[in-house]
Amino acid sequence: MRRKIAAGNWKMNGLKASVDELNALKSLTLDTKCDIFICPPATLIEEMVSVSGESLIRIGGQDCHWSKSGAYTGEISAEMLANVGAQAVILGHSERRSLHQETSTIVHDKVIAAWAAGLTTIICVGETEADRDSGATLDVIAEQLGHSIPDAATADNSIIAYEPVWAIGTGRTPTFDEIADVHKFIRTHLNDRFKSANQMRILYGGSVNGSNAAEIFAIPNVDGGLVGGASLRAIDFAPIVVAASQLS
Ligand code: PGA
Repeated sequence: MRRKIAAGNWKMNGLKASVDELNALKSLTLDTKCDIFICPPATLIEEMVSVSGESLIRIGGQDCHWSKSGAYTGEISAEMLANVGAQAVILGHSERRSLHQETSTIVHDKVIAAWAAGLTTIICVGETEADRDSGATLDVIAEQLGHSIPDAATADNSIIAYEPVWAIGTGRTPTFDEIADVHKFIRTHLNDRFKSANQMRILYGGSVNGSNAAEIFAIPNVDGGLVGGASLRAIDFAPIVVAASQLS
């Protein structure tokens, strides 16, 4: 059985005072049976690693560069994230793909760099609304999976996140059948390529909240969620963690 994951992506939100949310989350999620990741802005990683302490909550980054170091103004390397205690990194989020022109090949190279630094990668894929309307969803997902996930992926070094772009931050979610179809497609792709595919976790992301998490996480091949808006406050994220835990 695959252990469920509740992962929070804080995006460009959070100042030092927001670390209090992590303290609150710790006390609201004692005795949980799922894996929990929080990916705050890079400025908060070190302090949040220290606050997370012995709890089950692991801290991650939201992106990294494909190079170890060098003349890349404004960028952050995987080694730098690991150096301050991050254990994971989100790569290929749709906001990076669309706002920073990240191709699947770039995502692939970042994944390799992240593994070299010992980070677990949360690799995101997802179609736009136009892709879905034109019936191209599975083609887009196939391209992203095929070119973003390196051949050395395992259940230990990689987590896949399916996030339909049109469901991110919009309050709209696909139907349960639509989620099930794409997750099944992703599972089949993983089975065709990787030995440990059956143990690889596939998260759903896009407008997950405390009210819909339990039903979404119960869909076949959905192993938890990658959560944006509802991960910012402990009071909103805790019920999502509990939903993941109850199904673990
Ligand atoms: P959302 O974002 O939960 O705010 O829709 C999800 C994500 O972008 O990971």
